[in-house]
Amino acid sequence: MRKKIVAGNWKMNLSIQEGANLIDTVCAQMPTLKEHQQVVFCAPYTHLHNAHLSLQKASKNNTFLGAQNCNPNASGAYTGEISIGMLKECGVSNVIIGHSERRQYFNESNEFLKQKTDALLAQNMQVIFCCGEPLEIREAGTQNDYVAKQLQESLFHVTADQLQQQVVIAYEPIWAIGTGVTASTQQAQDMHFFIRSLLASTYGAEVAANITILYGGSCNASNAAELFSCTDVDGGLIGGAALKPETFLPIIEAMA
Ligand code: PGA
Repeated sequence: MRKKIVAGNWKMNLSIQEGANLIDTVCAQMPTLKEHQQVVFCAPYTHLHNAHLSLQKASKNNTFLGAQNCNPNASGAYTGEISIGMLKECGVSNVIIGHSERRQYFNESNEFLKQKTDALLAQNMQVIFCCGEPLEIREAGTQNDYVAKQLQESLFHVTADQLQQQVVIAYEPIWAIGTGVTASTQQAQDMHFFIRSLLASTYGAEVAANITILYGGSCNASNAAELFSCTDVDGGLIGGAALKPETFLPIIEAMA
C-alpha cells in the first residue's frame, strides 16, 4: 500500500515557541497513525532544532521533521544558505523542493532543482518535490505539458528505487496556493492521474502505483476528506491550514 502523507508547510510563519506549541498540541491530539500514514512538519530553518526536540518528546510514530529548502552544495562560500548536512544535524529527514514560491520569487530553475534532487538523494533524505502550473497555463489548457516538463527536467532522471524509496510528488496548482480557491476534486484527480500515467510510462506501472502524490493549494479542514478520497490523491501539502492545531488536525484525520 502506498504511503499517505499530510505535510504542513509553515512557510515564513510562527515564532519558535509557537511552532513548538503547535507540534506539542498536534502530536498530543492526533489519532495514532497507521503504518502507511505519515505526518511531516516543515518548519523554518530557525525552528528546526526546537521542533526536533518537540517531536522527540512527543515520540509519536510516523511523524517527521521537514525543511522548506536546502542548498545542494556540501559546504563553502554560499552566504545565507543552509546545506543538507546542516539540516540533518537538526534532525531533518524530509525536504520540500520546487515549491512555486521558490521558483517564482527566487528564480529556481528546473536545472537547479535537479541538482537539489540529486544532492538530497545522495544524502538519504526524503524529497517532497513540488510541481504545478500558473493560472494562465491552466486557462490555456496546457497544464499537463507544463507539469510534465517540470518533472522530466528535474526528477525523472533518478532511478526507480530512488523514486520509490525517497520521493513524494506534490501537485500544487499555483492559482490555488494561498488563494482560497481549491482545485476541484475532478481537476486534482485528473492531474494526479496524469502524473501517475507519466510515471508509468517512464518507470512502469508497478513503480507508478507505489509513488505518493500529494495535493496542495488551499486544502483545509472542510475539503481535505473529499480531495483525499480521489483515487490518485495520497494526502496533502498544507500551508495556511497547517498553522493551527484546530485546522491541521482535521486534515490529518481526513487521511483515514
Ligand atoms: P496553502 O499553501 O495551503 O496556504 O494554499 C499550500 C502550499 O503552498 O504548500
